[in-house]
Amino acid sequence: MPTPIVAGNWKMNTTLAEAVALASEMCGALDAVGGVEKVVCPPFISLKAVKDVVDGTSIRMGAQNMHYEEKGAYTGEVSPGMLTGLCEYVILGHSERRQYFWETDEVINRKVRAALAAGLKPILCVGEGLEEREAGWAKSVVTAQLHGALNFVTSIDTLAVAYEPIWAIGTGVAATGEAAEEIMGIIRSTLAELYSEAAAREVPLLYGGSVTPDNVAEYASQPNVNGALVGGASLDAARFSDIARGMAAG
Ligand code: PGA
Repeated sequence: MPTPIVAGNWKMNTTLAEAVALASEMCGALDAVGGVEKVVCPPFISLKAVKDVVDGTSIRMGAQNMHYEEKGAYTGEVSPGMLTGLCEYVILGHSERRQYFWETDEVINRKVRAALAAGLKPILCVGEGLEEREAGWAKSVVTAQLHGALNFVTSIDTLAVAYEPIWAIGTGVAATGEAAEEIMGIIRSTLAELYSEAAAREVPLLYGGSVTPDNVAEYASQPNVNGALVGGASLDAARFSDIARGMAAG
């Protein structure tokens, strides 16, 4: 079983000062939680400052996105090499990137390959929208996203996958534990088909979408859930620590 990961996606929240204050708060209770990898993903401009705060603790750093090119004329973008040394993880293919920034499976695939080549650990996000779920397409959407994102990827040793149904993100309507488990079992078996049973077994699968301290136990107890990707509740040090503790206990 992989070590569970609880990652906090701060999204486009926190000024530099607020990010430092939040990270400092997390160095208490969150740092003390064992049995789970704790990752914070602040905005790019706060990565260095937050890293300086959490250095020496058990809290790990992640970015929320990156470009796939190494350098050049890509105004406003951040390359894998710029992130190396600042963070260990990078969230890729988040549904907000797909939805608002038109990221396709092909773009996400380039990013996954670039991250791996740069020694960053991708947290690859997949998940279906409400209409797709209601049409009974959840499994096929997620499977197609996985195939697309992992094209030409030869090793998944440092990959994590987050299943985030779009209808559950930021809505307070979390998937039930069973609904998450059903799709996450399919993610695991798709990885096994693409790679091997042994490789698939080691990939941390995170559930994301309205995770709170109150519902985390429901996910932690599922056989194919090895963590959580947390948005809203990761902006509160106490709530995020409680989620990490709940995941570790599962
Ligand atoms: P949420 O966001 O926890 O606020 O639903 C999850 C995510 O988008 O990663």
